[in-house]
Amino acid sequence: MNTNQIRKAFFDFFKSKSHVIVNSAPMVLKDDPSLMFTNAGMNQFKDVFLGHDNPIQKRVANSQKCLRVSGKHNDLEEVGVDTYHHTMFEMLGNWSFGDYFKKEAINWAWDLFTNVYKIDSGRLYVTVFKGDSTDKTNFDQESYDIWKNLISEERILKFSKKDNFWEMGNTGPCGPSSEIHIDIRSDKDRKSVSGKELVNKDHPKVIELWNLVFIEYNRTSDGNLEVLKKKHVDTGMGLERLAMVLQSKNSNYESDLFLPLITRLEKLSKLSYTPSTTKTEQSKINIAFRVVVDHIRAVAFSISDGQLPSNNGAGYVIRRILRRAVRYGYQFLKFDEAFLHLMVEPLAESFEGVFDEISKNKEFIKKIIFQEELLFFNTLSSGIKRLDEIVDFNIKEKKSQVDGKLVFELYDTYGFPLDLTKLIAEENKLSIDEKDFKKYLIEQKNRSKVDAKKDVGDWTTLIEDDIQEFVGYDHTSVKIKVAKYRTIKIKNKETFQLIFNLTPFFPEGGGQVGDKGFIINSNEKIIINDTKKENGIIVHDVDKLPKNIKTSFDAKVDEARRIKIMKNHSATHLLHFALRKVLGKHVEQKGSLINSSYLRFDFSHFSKLTNEEISSVESQVNQFIRAAHNLKENRNVPIEIAKQQGAMMLFGEKYGDSVRTIQFGESIELCGGLHVRSTSLIGNFKVVSESSISSGIRRIEAVTSQNADKFIDDKLKIINDISKILKHPNDIINAIEQLQKNNLDLQKKVEILNNDLIIGLKNEILSHIIEVNKIKFIYKNLNISSELMKKLAFDIKNNLERFVLIFTSVYDNRPLITLMISKDLVQENNWNAGKMIRELAKLIKGGGGGQPFFATAGGTDISGINQIELKARDLFFN
Ligand code: SER
Repeated sequence: MNTNQIRKAFFDFFKSKSHVIVNSAPMVLKDDPSLMFTNAGMNQFKDVFLGHDNPIQKRVANSQKCLRVSGKHNDLEEVGVDTYHHTMFEMLGNWSFGDYFKKEAINWAWDLFTNVYKIDSGRLYVTVFKGDSTDKTNFDQESYDIWKNLISEERILKFSKKDNFWEMGNTGPCGPSSEIHIDIRSDKDRKSVSGKELVNKDHPKVIELWNLVFIEYNRTSDGNLEVLKKKHVDTGMGLERLAMVLQSKNSNYESDLFLPLITRLEKLSKLSYTPSTTKTEQSKINIAFRVVVDHIRAVAFSISDGQLPSNNGAGYVIRRILRRAVRYGYQFLKFDEAFLHLMVEPLAESFEGVFDEISKNKEFIKKIIFQEELLFFNTLSSGIKRLDEIVDFNIKEKKSQVDGKLVFELYDTYGFPLDLTKLIAEENKLSIDEKDFKKYLIEQKNRSKVDAKKDVGDWTTLIEDDIQEFVGYDHTSVKIKVAKYRTIKIKNKETFQLIFNLTPFFPEGGGQVGDKGFIINSNEKIIINDTKKENGIIVHDVDKLPKNIKTSFDAKVDEARRIKIMKNHSATHLLHFALRKVLGKHVEQKGSLINSSYLRFDFSHFSKLTNEEISSVESQVNQFIRAAHNLKENRNVPIEIAKQQGAMMLFGEKYGDSVRTIQFGESIELCGGLHVRSTSLIGNFKVVSESSISSGIRRIEAVTSQNADKFIDDKLKIINDISKILKHPNDIINAIEQLQKNNLDLQKKVEILNNDLIIGLKNEILSHIIEVNKIKFIYKNLNISSELMKKLAFDIKNNLERFVLIFTSVYDNRPLITLMISKDLVQENNWNAGKMIRELAKLIKGGGGGQPFFATAGGTDISGINQIELKARDLFFN
């Protein structure tokens, strides 16, 4: 069976059991602060499990794009080294939301395996949860009894919480699990050691295939388990492993999911992937192959889901994965220029018809990866230069070990992993201080842990009100009650979060900042500092809890602030539309920020916008504003209809079946944000900056309404001030050009005069030289700039030997000294102008420095100038 057939068989099977097949959620998560990436199929249903959201269907199944590279489930370092871990993988899963439970889940899993996929049941083992005394959870007798009817008891194994209790993260929905494992070793190996001994032992050929989780609890932040109102099923099966088994391969990487990628990489590198080898060199090449073909999937899917490589957060994780792939390619596959982007092509082909987002965004993904590769190859080569310096230093100092601090610098600044530094050091017969390096690494980790420490308390519930209502589209003031509250501690500062039964406050989302305002009653007023959404619930940040938290309050949004935000948000839509019109349809939104002062819009485009393009975009938006298009808001459009209407949607956003559309004239977008009733209310629009934020992504910052007026007024004021300074010429530009021309002419004249001055001074000095102790001693107070003193000194140097020259000057009200010693005297007497000038500079209360033969100094006390000559004579001749 090829993987397309495997997926199809899975979907068909669960359709026959009344499941609805849903789309994969984006791999990059936007509204769950506890996770950066989707790490399991169940993530998108977290709110349903916790009872915050109603399920659309009670039974669903899908194939979910997952990424396990951060947080609780983190496999990055394993990937490639073994043959069965991945960063990105597809998880086939079926779910029951408060519907069927263990009996159906287990029986169907067995049926699909043994009857549809026709897996030999003699190779299968199953595991069940044996209970945990700390959590006060019991042995899963129910699952055991169900399995007993399907498989012999000696193949049912009991495991502890570590293996058979599934949790999404440190908090959240969880429960006991029952897993199906397979033993795909040869008959001979199976005879010598029973597969039973190898289950859950990280054996590459005795592996877990399917995890059936019975979600019954919520793990709260204090570590306790809270029983959920309903019981759910969450199953997950890695498609890559299943493909390996069903295609009788030795590893996932030999299945049809990876083969096209491996073949392309063989062509590009002119090396072969030969996993059966035992030779050390080749096994490193094999690891590199696996790293590259695995990581390209993670990187390409993240980019198509809207997460670009960057310096922080999720973007940094992606950058690290990308760099790990490039580094393995560089180190073991001998690539010395960008290659990874060339892997996008075969990837796009193999996912055609399954995840079309790769082929749709192919060119964009390629460009982003290419630019990142160039950047990294540059970093690598500066790292290698730095390492060369370090090696030279060690050799010169006869040190055989490179300091841990330097190894850490290479790691931290240049992205050099320990083994690469070690390798290069060894090639130069040096060792590295690994222990010291680890000390620095731990220090850095501890630093970031302290920085990131945030204690989030559990919610205290005052009103059992499952579904909270947002009324902010229609109201800015309503009566509310506090339904829940909790404490947040960051670095000893305590703040609070409130959830209301209903709320007019807009939560930060879609680029728009959260509302501020207050809640008030006759006794007290509590300021709302910010509003955010967490797992579907609107949360309000406050500095203090209401004293009488159970009474009702009037919740009032800061309206003046909100109106400014609304103008900026509507203008953002118009800007998006105008950019596509002026630059082309390749422009896609890649991020935005909308607050009360300005708007920021990031979009895909590969060159800097010209001034003409910016003007044209501005004028389009202003025409839109003046056309006074009325807002057409539709809160409930089936997504398919919205697509047909051409509504702009963002890659990587999770949209439900019905969506909200915002339309102004021809501009129509899917959007949850707040907007003005008519574009005319935006008043005015002005771009204030255009820049690049990463390869292929441009950023526009703009202002609207009064802020746009102010921006223009400020610019006009500058012009008026200039005009005033220039005494109101008719043509300001011409006047400035004239000024520049005059300036240039004067500069030329000054240069000629300076040259004459220098020649005069030089002749005068050379004709009045005195000798002390057979040394020509020149001292002169000149009152010229330090540049001219330098020029004069260097001119004299060409005509003279065995001299000491000192010039002093008071220039721009500052005392200055120049000291030059001819090179012969420097050598003979071991003099050093750089050091000696510091002695002289003390007299003018200043400092200076330079080389052994030439130095300059500046000071603050002009009166000291008179004493310099005497002091110099003292220094050189006594
Ligand atoms: N949530 C479980 C897992 O990820 C089953 O889907 O393994």
